[in-house]
Amino acid sequence: MTNLANKTVLVTGASRGMGRATARALAAAGAHVIVHYGNAQAEAESLLKEIRAGGGRADAVRADLGSLDAVADLVEKTKAIVGGRLDVLVANAGISGAAAIADQKPADFDRLYAVNVRAPYFIVQGLLPLFGEGSSIVLLSSLAVQAAVGELSAYAASKGAVDTLVKHFAAALGPKGIRVNAVAPGVIETDMSSFAKTEQGRAFILNMQALKRIGQPEDVAPVAAFLASDDARWITGTTIAVDGGSKL
Ligand SMILES: NC(=O)c1ccc[n+]([C@@H]2O[C@H](COP(=O)([O-])OP(=O)(O)OC[C@H]3O[C@@H](n4cnc5c(N)ncnc54)[C@H](OP(=O)(O)O)[C@@H]3O)[C@@H](O)[C@H]2O)c1
Repeated sequence: MTNLANKTVLVTGASRGMGRATARALAAAGAHVIVHYGNAQAEAESLLKEIRAGGGRADAVRADLGSLDAVADLVEKTKAIVGGRLDVLVANAGISGAAAIADQKPADFDRLYAVNVRAPYFIVQGLLPLFGEGSSIVLLSSLAVQAAVGELSAYAASKGAVDTLVKHFAAALGPKGIRVNAVAPGVIETDMSSFAKTEQGRAFILNMQALKRIGQPEDVAPVAAFLASDDARWITGTTIAVDGGSKL
């Protein structure tokens, strides 16, 4: 089992969905988890309670990642909690938004890039002094980078940027012993995935996947936890598909 005893971890967007499942998995592996959230305070607090009741360590920090000031605030609060060292960042928080090319609104496009690309970039920048030999950064990519599923061109482009950051961050930070990778989920049943909420959508998903069930947050969390851990010590600069064999 993945061992993260005495490691400090920040998971963004840990109140719901895959972030929540990943924070749980990291806490179960022994890490002290900072549960970041945006609006879902009750969900974040229930996760803190659950981790603490299980004997784990957890703190919560709120920040709207659409704002650079809030990103800076998250960085400062993280420093105040962990002190000088952060072992793991899972930059999971993200938003989606479907629109036909003709209907894409510039403001929605900018918001996608602010939350999905700018926020992880500047969280990594702000936390650089806390990362060191053995630290691991895990970003969230998407199947949508590789396959044109739905009307997700703007969202998919933001996740394509994440894959690009993985390569550049890994190359730049590797000499310091810091690894950078991403997981690329297929359709996962969360609040975000409108695809999985209708019979027609579910049929489409099952048709494009080799494995014939709908993916769950708990299918992704162990892969993020693996990448976060020393078991993945020789893996950096890569994006791992976690999609039940989608669009093979
Ligand atoms: N679901 C899928 O099928 C799928 C597939 C591929 C990739 N992904 C990616 O996987 C990641 C997690 O997705 P999910 O499906 O688990 O999403 P989700 O259930 O909708 O949860 C999103 C999380 O991100 C946080 N968040 C969103 N916008 C934020 C903002 N502006 N400021 C702060 N926090 C914000 C939310 O916090 P609050 O609720 O507290 O505001 C929540 O904790 C995302 O990066 C997504 O793009 C998802």
